[in-house]
Amino acid sequence: MTDDLERLKTDTLAALSEASDLRAWDAIRVGVLGKSGSLTTMLKELGRAAPEERKARGAALNVLKGELSAAIDGRQATLEAAALEARLQTERLDVSLPPQPRAQGLIHPISRTMEEMAAIFGAMGFAIGEGPDIEDDWRNFGALNIPAHHSAREDMDTFYVPPGEGETRRRVLRTHTSPMQVRSMLTRELPFRVIVPGRTYRADHDATHSPMFHQCEGLVLGRDITLAHLKGCLIDFLRAFFGVADLPVRFRSSYFPFTEPSMEVDIGWSRKTGEIGGGTDWLEILGSGMVQPKVLANCGIDPREWQGFAFGMGIERVTMLKYGIPDLRPFYESDLRWLRHYGFNPLAPVMLHEGV
Ligand code: DAH
Repeated sequence: MTDDLERLKTDTLAALSEASDLRAWDAIRVGVLGKSGSLTTMLKELGRAAPEERKARGAALNVLKGELSAAIDGRQATLEAAALEARLQTERLDVSLPPQPRAQGLIHPISRTMEEMAAIFGAMGFAIGEGPDIEDDWRNFGALNIPAHHSAREDMDTFYVPPGEGETRRRVLRTHTSPMQVRSMLTRELPFRVIVPGRTYRADHDATHSPMFHQCEGLVLGRDITLAHLKGCLIDFLRAFFGVADLPVRFRSSYFPFTEPSMEVDIGWSRKTGEIGGGTDWLEILGSGMVQPKVLANCGIDPREWQGFAFGMGIERVTMLKYGIPDLRPFYESDLRWLRHYGFNPLAPVMLHEGV
């Protein structure tokens, strides 16, 4: 074998033994046996050699090609086996390890508050109801003792929807969750207690109002439900929800067409520091009252036999207060930075015994 062939052989074998992965191996293979590889070029150039030299060099080149091809194939097999072994090592499954679930997403603060409400009221024996976003005028207003030209309808700046097919009543995107009082009275068996969290809509849009927002309605009906039940229930709820055992709660006389008497419910807080339960200021949290007998009658319930209380609160408002969220708008902007900051671990569900 001539010197140049000898050199090609030693260089190639040395490079092959140094190649530590298939990528390096492939570069060597192409460099030697590829279209313009060194050995291929030598074979091509054979035609230009003198006839007496051609035979011997041709034979030597063929032997070398056989040797190098075998060495290259051998190295490929070794490297492939090593790569497989490495994969098996890293992908080994240790079934004795505890599960390590990857966080896949977070619970939105609105959903979290709804879950907390469900947990607290659920523990008080309330059922959790759901209802449609599109209601008819009667359930949203009429049955709730809000007559056609009542100012409450203006207040609410309603989104109206044309009547459904074959219907005459115009429909609305519900302006509050209170129509679920009507649906509950029409379908649930008395006595009952239910809360209904859900979406609500009003044509309002500024820093503290969104055209779509959320409320939670509550309704308790029985033969002898009194204002004392209303107060006890809401005080217990607010103290559990805000996690302040002696949270001051104030009931302030108010007006809603569907309750009589009606009360606004305030909690004690400090306007200066924002501390809930501290300071001497009051903050309005929800509306409530004893169900107005006309509403019971509108829903086919005899008000001489049955009575109860209702309440409704804004979910965004209590969520912002509880978690110190300063602005309403990002609730609906799907900004992942906000969601990661304010979101809740889905694997840490609401547990009443840990406090909510
Ligand atoms: N629906 C009222 C609103 O959106 C809130 C409300 C007040 C609900 C008093 C009630 C209630 O059930 O009793 O402003």
